Amino acid sequence: MPNSVQVENLTKIFKAKVSGKNGITALDNVTLAIEKGTIFGLLGPNGAGKTTLIKILLGLVFPTSGSAKILDTDISDFNIRKKIGYLPENHKFPNYLTGEDVIVYYSKLSGFEIDKKSPKITEVLNLVKMEKWRKTKIKKYSKGMMQRLGLAQAIIHDPEIIFLDEPTDGVDPIGRKEIRDLLISLKNQGKTIFINSHLLSEVELVTDKVAILNEGKLIKFGTVDELTVNKQLYEIKTDLPISTELFRSLIENYKITQKENMISLEISDNSDLNKFLDELRKSSINIIGVNQKKSSLEDTFIQSLTEVKN
Ligand SMILES: Nc1ncnc2c1ncn2[C@@H]1O[C@H](COP(=O)(O)OP(=O)(O)O)[C@@H](O)[C@H]1O
Ligand SMILES: [Mg+2]
Repeated sequence: MPNSVQVENLTKIFKAKVSGKNGITALDNVTLAIEKGTIFGLLGPNGAGKTTLIKILLGLVFPTSGSAKILDTDISDFNIRKKIGYLPENHKFPNYLTGEDVIVYYSKLSGFEIDKKSPKITEVLNLVKMEKWRKTKIKKYSKGMMQRLGLAQAIIHDPEIIFLDEPTDGVDPIGRKEIRDLLISLKNQGKTIFINSHLLSEVELVTDKVAILNEGKLIKFGTVDELTVNKQLYEIKTDLPISTELFRSLIENYKITQKENMISLEISDNSDLNKFLDELRKSSINIIGVNQKKSSLEDTFIQSLTEVKN
């Protein structure tokens, strides 16, 4: 698969506001590649450098060093922007505009002339489920509606790559599901999608690859499965909660927590599950069920951030 985005040794140091002080290293020698037709998630806590990376790729911020290509074209070539869609973080459209005004206005800004009667507007507004609100002023919109309109604006010109900065921030669960479904359908049309997010549980449901950025450094890169494979979590249901005494003896050898009659066990070696179950049976505990829980990206994320600190 060819790459849609290629980033090489990208560093961005923002100059200090007060002269003599050190600048802020927002990106520190970041290298990564995103395959065409995939959904990529860039994760990291606030201030990690996620927005800076997107802005550099869009040509809105200049890198201090390093280079990047989009669809094999260097980002310094502005023509590439025609093939890019962008939903900025915390975007604010002028609130006296209606939904369709916003689409017309922003498509003009991207050099793509369109008028209110264009069927293309109806098509994208239907896609983001905003058609019935097109004549409503956006000051009446909820955060979820604003994000959906923002998405419509980002895809009106049929871009090949779509950059979304915190697309589900402040959106309710149903709205998030709708946005996820939309991203998957865009991917199925062959688009490449780059999502910045600090909401990991959202991203792991749709992404093919993820990277974790912390203090400007890329600390992990891989598929969600690759990043969460190292440990396994099991939930073991017993008929009664186990005694404090037994719990104390088990915790010496196993990573466990207990909540009523449910024990959570974390193992890195498969044979440990059976050993643990044998211990329970030896103590005459009735096991009602064993359930494997996938270790979530959230855990890996927190773990890799603590590893960096230590
Ligand atoms: N224009 C700017 N001038 C100075 N510092 C900036 C600027 N933009 C971002 N930063 C700093 O760069 C770091 C990364 O910011 P950002 O890319 O917005 O992170 P994220 O999107 O991951 O929250 C932060 O420390 C931020 O304060
Ligand atoms: Mg940001």
